[in-house]
Amino acid sequence: MRLSSVVGAVLALCTGVFGADSNLTAHWSPKEILTVDSEPPQVFENTNLVRTINLEKGYVRETTNVLVTNTDKSPQYHYYVPLEYDLMGKIGGFDARDKKKPEIPLEVALAELDNKSDNQGRATKPTHYYIIHLSEPLPSKSTITLSISWNVLGALTPLPASIKQEDKQYLMYNFSAYVPTVYKTHKQKTKVKFASADVPEYSTTTGLTSATDPEKQGSSFTYGPYDTAKVEPGTVYPVTVRYEFNKPLLVCSLLERDVEVSHWGGNLATEERYWLRHDGATLSNQFSRLAWSTQSFYISAGQGSTSALRELKVPLKPGTVDPYFTDIGNVSTSRFRPNNVREASLELKPRYPLFGGWKYSFRIGWNNALSSVLRKLKTKSDTYILSVPLLEGPKMPEGIQYEKLVFRVILPEGAINVQWQTHGGTGVPPLHAEYDNHKTFMDTLGRTELKLTAYNVVDEARDVTVLLTYEYPFLAAFRKPVTIFTGSAVVFALAWLVGSVDTSIGKKKR
Ligand SMILES: *[C@@H]1O[C@H](CO)[C@@H](O)[C@H](O)[C@H]1NC(C)=O
Ligand SMILES: *[C@@H]1O[C@H](CO)[C@@H](O)[C@H](O)[C@H]1NC(C)=O
Ligand SMILES: *[C@@H]1O[C@H](CO)[C@@H](O)[C@H](O)[C@H]1NC(C)=O
Ligand SMILES: *[C@@H]1O[C@H](CO)[C@@H](O)[C@H](O)[C@H]1NC(C)=O
Repeated sequence: MRLSSVVGAVLALCTGVFGADSNLTAHWSPKEILTVDSEPPQVFENTNLVRTINLEKGYVRETTNVLVTNTDKSPQYHYYVPLEYDLMGKIGGFDARDKKKPEIPLEVALAELDNKSDNQGRATKPTHYYIIHLSEPLPSKSTITLSISWNVLGALTPLPASIKQEDKQYLMYNFSAYVPTVYKTHKQKTKVKFASADVPEYSTTTGLTSATDPEKQGSSFTYGPYDTAKVEPGTVYPVTVRYEFNKPLLVCSLLERDVEVSHWGGNLATEERYWLRHDGATLSNQFSRLAWSTQSFYISAGQGSTSALRELKVPLKPGTVDPYFTDIGNVSTSRFRPNNVREASLELKPRYPLFGGWKYSFRIGWNNALSSVLRKLKTKSDTYILSVPLLEGPKMPEGIQYEKLVFRVILPEGAINVQWQTHGGTGVPPLHAEYDNHKTFMDTLGRTELKLTAYNVVDEARDVTVLLTYEYPFLAAFRKPVTIFTGSAVVFALAWLVGSVDTSIGKKKR
């Protein structure tokens, strides 16, 4: 069930909350992978291509701006982006836009090329592509500028793999100086942005340009520009960079996030369970608490840094109440700063700083007034629209990558006709939806539960809003109290009956 055009109209009514001018973001499911039986047709050329590889966070973000020319005789509207075999399964947040209409993401499909492997079954050429559907066919000889971006998760390797407690952490990333493309590319360059200017090792190229390659400028390097008109598309020129990244490399193998709507209590309860891991360099010696206290002192004073995780900060909406925190495993402390001026926050401090290879699992939760996220529609009676972020939780400057996110929205008992859609954000992850029935102690029918599962999610998903509409008939609101009433009536009746029956075994023995 997807949100129909009703919601388009609905959104316009809720302008104050959601903004009127943006379209709902389309998304796709990997189940919808297309199978193509021939290699992409050579109908385009990349006239000029600029790629940015951003290494400032614990995952890679690649953005490519490309001026595309239709070299075919007829209008074309399918632009192919090859997906390197090694990177399949590591890509998240794929997003493509027409530079002239940057507010609307272009539709994207994942395609698999049938039957393209050597006799060992290994792929010899790219076998997977993202196919970008241009919003209107590009006429022959015309150009369009596309902005294509995605994240690569789990592709950074600490080198050395083990360090001492006070050593700096360095990461390595491998990529091709030539951007992998399907089409002939006339001119191209790649900018690499590092977290700092400390880049002790990097590949230089020979014979690709007349100048020194890469060109260094503080914390960013530029490979190219290259003239690649005569280079076969898909040609790879491997380069490696090793750079300082003295921050934790935070990976959440699983985040379970539940929001529960209670009309009766006027409450939205959020609970999140994290299985967090530090994928950075491991400690080569024993952890020393003594050395740590000195180190920690300097870091707190703003001098020095560490690759260890010292604290997690969870920003919460103003008006958040009853926050809680449960540690699964290591002992930690937490502190809640209620909403002073704008944003409340929950601060979690593991008792031991978390070094590479270590894990940290915990559960957090809080409550918000339902009125801040729920609106009743004027157009359709008994219909509500709920607006909740896809991702909340800890916000760290180095970012967090989520291998798997399971987001459950639990609606009140009796809610029907549930429909959903996402809104806003870039690179909305493909969301797999399932409907379930969530039955708790006092429920008669069970509550409708929408479960959205996504893979390879990063912090950008905080800008994605999940919108849900559902019908909650007036009578359904009474089901709960009625259940409680009948429930307790049965208990009273039983007590009454039991009370009037002689159950005293002792008496009979006499
Ligand atoms: C939203 O999408 C519709 C249909 O695709 C389009 O006609 C409309 O102009 C879009 N609105 C905005 C604000 O982009
Ligand atoms: C697909 O693979 C089979 C077996 O390797 C081969 O016989 C066949 O010709 C291939 N088909 C195409 C379209 O490449
Ligand atoms: C990256 O390249 C270096 C040097 O070519 C190689 O030693 C290393 O194994 C590569 N790392 C990965 C993760 O592919
Ligand atoms: C707890 O911290 C220790 C370091 O003191 C670490 O070795 C261990 O993996 C952590 N345990 C869990 C369950 O995360």
